[in-house]
Amino acid sequence: MSLAISKENFFWHKVHSLTGIVPVGFYMVQHLTLNSFSLAGPEKFNAVIGFFAGMPKHVLLGMEVVLIWLPLLFHGVYGLFITGRAQNNAFGTTYGWTENKLYTLQRVTGIVVFLFLIYHVLTTTVNAKLNGEQVILYSAWRDKLSGTGYLLLFVYMIGVAACSFHLCHGTWNFCIRWGLTIGDASQRAVHRFSMVLFVLVTLLGWLALFGFLTGGGAEGPVQALRSGPFLASTA
Ligand code: HEM
Ligand code: HEM
Repeated sequence: MSLAISKENFFWHKVHSLTGIVPVGFYMVQHLTLNSFSLAGPEKFNAVIGFFAGMPKHVLLGMEVVLIWLPLLFHGVYGLFITGRAQNNAFGTTYGWTENKLYTLQRVTGIVVFLFLIYHVLTTTVNAKLNGEQVILYSAWRDKLSGTGYLLLFVYMIGVAACSFHLCHGTWNFCIRWGLTIGDASQRAVHRFSMVLFVLVTLLGWLALFGFLTGGGAEGPVQALRSGPFLASTA
């Protein structure tokens, strides 16, 4: 069942495809890895937040705009455009049921990721820039995820799984679109690999979330940040 993705095969679609892997996909994996420092407790997690908060503001903003916000905005908005134009072939075509479901799921997760990231970025980066880093420290995450009957823990688990599926299944799409996998056998092999990756990346994100619920820490958020290794000199 080798597939050839030829529809809308032009420059911006290629740029869209590339930005999904670099830098956005790369950013997500390193982001979840750094967040999994939560498993090592409040001090280690807060040190990561402190590292970024301690960077010169113009360097941090420049990196955020160039490496995260612009590529993500482009990929997300163009992705919605692609989704709007997509032929939903989940029913009544000669493609296999599984391929159709995965094609649809790539687009559905794109929309879920879009909504999740609007909420996530507003409540983390934007909130921290307006109200200070204490709103994204370990204890703030612990309170947030364990409050309201663990509702936000559930929302985050779904959000992380959607992002993970979108990236990992997207890697399979990417390999076909860029001609890296042409034959049936190689496409099947990369598909298996992408599904294993999906499980691993999802577990990484979920473990990061559970890390906020397992650590103790009576240490107040602001004090934790100030006593972190990177901000100690500026405190
Ligand atoms: C385990 C779940 C997650 C946690 C605990 C978490 C935590 C955070 C924190 C603390 C920030 C504030 C800035 C920073 O320290 O980097 C942030 C920002 C951000 N997160 Fe997450 N995040 C999670 C999942 C995700 C996922 C799955 C994505 C998908 C790509 C994502 C994308 C972003 C983006 C785009 C920003 C804004 C980055 C910036 O402007 O610096 N996050 N997140
Ligand atoms: C912000 C909301 C997002 C939307 C609406 C969106 C939408 C889409 C759509 C519709 C596709 C399929 C393109 C096609 O097959 O022609 C796609 C592909 C892809 N997306 Fe996203 N996406 C979003 C966020 C992300 C994020 C955060 C990542 C990485 C963590 C990502 C990584 C990818 C990858 C790797 C592909 C495969 C590229 C290809 O088809 O060649 N996307 N996205």
